[in-house]
Amino acid sequence: MVHEAEFLPSTGTSILSVLQGGYNHPLAREWQEERPLTKSMFIYPLFITDSPDDETEIPALPNIKRYGINKLIPYVKTLVDKGLRAVILFGVPLKDGVKDEVGTAADDPEGPVIMAIKALRQNFPDLYIMCDVCLCEYTSHGHCGILYKDGSINRETLALRIGAVAVNYAKAGANCVAPSDMVDGRIKDIKTGLISAGLAHKCLLMSYAAKFLGNLYGPFRDAAGSAPSHGDRKAYQLPPGGAGLARRALIRDMDEGADAVIVKPSTFYLDIVSDASRLCENYPICAYHVSGEYAMLHAAAEKGIVDLKGIAFESHQGFVRAGARLIISYFTPEFLDWLDM
Ligand code: PBG
Ligand code: ZN
Repeated sequence: MVHEAEFLPSTGTSILSVLQGGYNHPLAREWQEERPLTKSMFIYPLFITDSPDDETEIPALPNIKRYGINKLIPYVKTLVDKGLRAVILFGVPLKDGVKDEVGTAADDPEGPVIMAIKALRQNFPDLYIMCDVCLCEYTSHGHCGILYKDGSINRETLALRIGAVAVNYAKAGANCVAPSDMVDGRIKDIKTGLISAGLAHKCLLMSYAAKFLGNLYGPFRDAAGSAPSHGDRKAYQLPPGGAGLARRALIRDMDEGADAVIVKPSTFYLDIVSDASRLCENYPICAYHVSGEYAMLHAAAEKGIVDLKGIAFESHQGFVRAGARLIISYFTPEFLDWLDM
């Protein structure tokens, strides 16, 4: 509402013109935040390999490493001690001959994800363990699904397979399964699978509902070895201009039984985060600050264009301002140092 501002002839200033008094003190600036960042909002991605003593830097992702199961636990301990509450696991099979056309290894009971769920659960009973559910790390062709001969996604077979993988992660002790394959119908198949297995009441289903195709997943694919060997993901990840599709996918995934939704990437899609907070007002909204966004901020800081801590706060404050309640972020370890609570 526009007020008829009272004009003070003595000073030439209207009573409504001066905002600065409202944020002149550091505490007053904090009061201006509708929702401040807290440690419990952060979900940290972990890359886990099938070579138990592995600890390898990922050149494209500064400060992020791939861990074998033996190295994982001591590393995570340092973060839990600083207040880490949640992780999301990505399996990275490195052994020869593990990948096949249908991604059989995704839920191998001896594979890195299931082994890591069990080890983390045992060592950190209070840690919230999420699993990315997808096949691209395990398929020989690097696509997120099972393909027909013509290279297109076999939707029916894949949704059932993704459902089975999710159930096996939940059985192993995952608190949350988050399918990122983006194939239509998977949320319903996963929810049905969890209900039939008697696990639906114990496992949160978080859908990567609005996941856009773009230029920001490159460092992740280096880290996970999951780049498609031919073609691209245009047939199953949303086109960057497709705001309407994203809104439809958000609504569809709620209707299929999702308990929470992800918008991904984050910085370039704040309008979608905002749409999600309106359309899915009764659901937690998660923003995924993806590998390319993280690497870009590091590169900009190295070039002296931005201050890393400053830009990390500014970007992540943007997500909560737009309506996100959760953030999957490679900056999680830094925020655990930077935030008081
Ligand atoms: C697997 C998956 C990807 C990401 C999360 N899950 C890669 C992709 O879809 O190609 C990207 C995360 C990131 O870039 O940080 N489907
Ligand atoms: Zn995938």
